[in-house]
Amino acid sequence: MEYNPTYNPFSLKGKTILVTGASSGIGRATAIECSKLGAIVIITGRNSERLQQTYDSLYGLGHLQIIADLNNLEDLTSLVNQVPILDGVVNNAGIAKTQPISFIKEEDLQKIFATNTFTPILLVKQLLRKKKINKNASLVFTSSVSAIKSDLGNSVYGASKAALQSYVRYCARELAPKSIRANSIHPGMVNTPLITGGAHSDDDLQTDAQKYPLGRYGRPEEIAWSIIYLLSDASAWITGHSLIIDGGISTLI
Ligand SMILES: NC(=O)c1ccc[n+]([C@@H]2O[C@H](COP(=O)([O-])OP(=O)(O)OC[C@H]3O[C@@H](n4cnc5c(N)ncnc54)[C@H](OP(=O)(O)O)[C@@H]3O)[C@@H](O)[C@H]2O)c1
Repeated sequence: MEYNPTYNPFSLKGKTILVTGASSGIGRATAIECSKLGAIVIITGRNSERLQQTYDSLYGLGHLQIIADLNNLEDLTSLVNQVPILDGVVNNAGIAKTQPISFIKEEDLQKIFATNTFTPILLVKQLLRKKKINKNASLVFTSSVSAIKSDLGNSVYGASKAALQSYVRYCARELAPKSIRANSIHPGMVNTPLITGGAHSDDDLQTDAQKYPLGRYGRPEEIAWSIIYLLSDASAWITGHSLIIDGGISTLI
C-alpha cells in the first residue's frame, strides 16, 4: 500500500468549534491549533484587545470573534444567538484564586463557581435548547488536576472543577442518544497568565515545576492537542472520560 499523506483522523476540517476563554492561555492556543487543523473557530472572551490578538493569529478564513462576559446571562444568550451550528464546544473559560480555608470569602466562592461550573452548564443548556449543537458533536470541558488532587489554598477552585467533572459524566450519558460526546480534561500547572499573575512568585513556581516527574510545567499547546484529540473523530468512541494531562504530577498522590 502506498502512504497516503492526506490521511488524518485527527483533522478538524469541516468542523465549526466554539472556544471560550480564547483571549488568553490554553483557550488561545486551542483556537489557534484548531484553526491549523482546518476548523472554523468561534472565539470568545471578555477582553477585546486580547481576543483580537488571538483572532489575528488564526489560520484560514471564516472565523468569528464574539466579546462576552459569560457570567452575564444577557451576554451568554447573545453569544448563543450569534453562533452557527457547532461540531465542537471547548468550555474553557475559568478563574482561580488561592485562599486558605479560613479566609474564603462568600463573594469569591460565588464568582469562582459561577465562572468555572455554572457558566459551562448554562452555556451547554442554551446551545442545546437553541439547537446549535450538531449530531456527532464533541463537548470538551477544561477542568483541572485540582479536581482530583489537593493543593494548599485551592479548595474552592478544586471543588468548582470537581463539580464540573461530575457534570460532564452526566452530560455524556444524557447526550449519548443524540451522538453528542462530553469529556473533561485535567491539566496540571500550565504556563499561562492564570498562574503567573497569581499569588505565587516566579521562584516558587520554578521550584514547584521541578517536582513534576517530567521536570517542568506544561505549555498551552500541549493542552490544546489533547483537546483537539477529543474534538476530532479519532476519539469518536470516547465519552464521559476525564483525561489527565499533567506531566505526571498526579502519579505522586
Ligand atoms: N494554567 C493552568 O495551570 C491551568 C491548570 C488547570 C486548569 N486550568 C484551566 O484552564 C482554563 C484556562 O486557563 P488559562 O490558564 O488559560 O487561564 P487564563 O490565561 O487566565 O485565561 C482565562 C480565560 O478565561 C476567560 N474568562 C474568565 N472569566 C470569564 C468570564 N466571566 N467570561 C468570559 N470569559 C472569561 C478569560 O477572558 P479575558 O482574558 O477576556 O478576561 C481568558 O480568556 C481555565 O478553566 C483554568 O481553570 C488552567
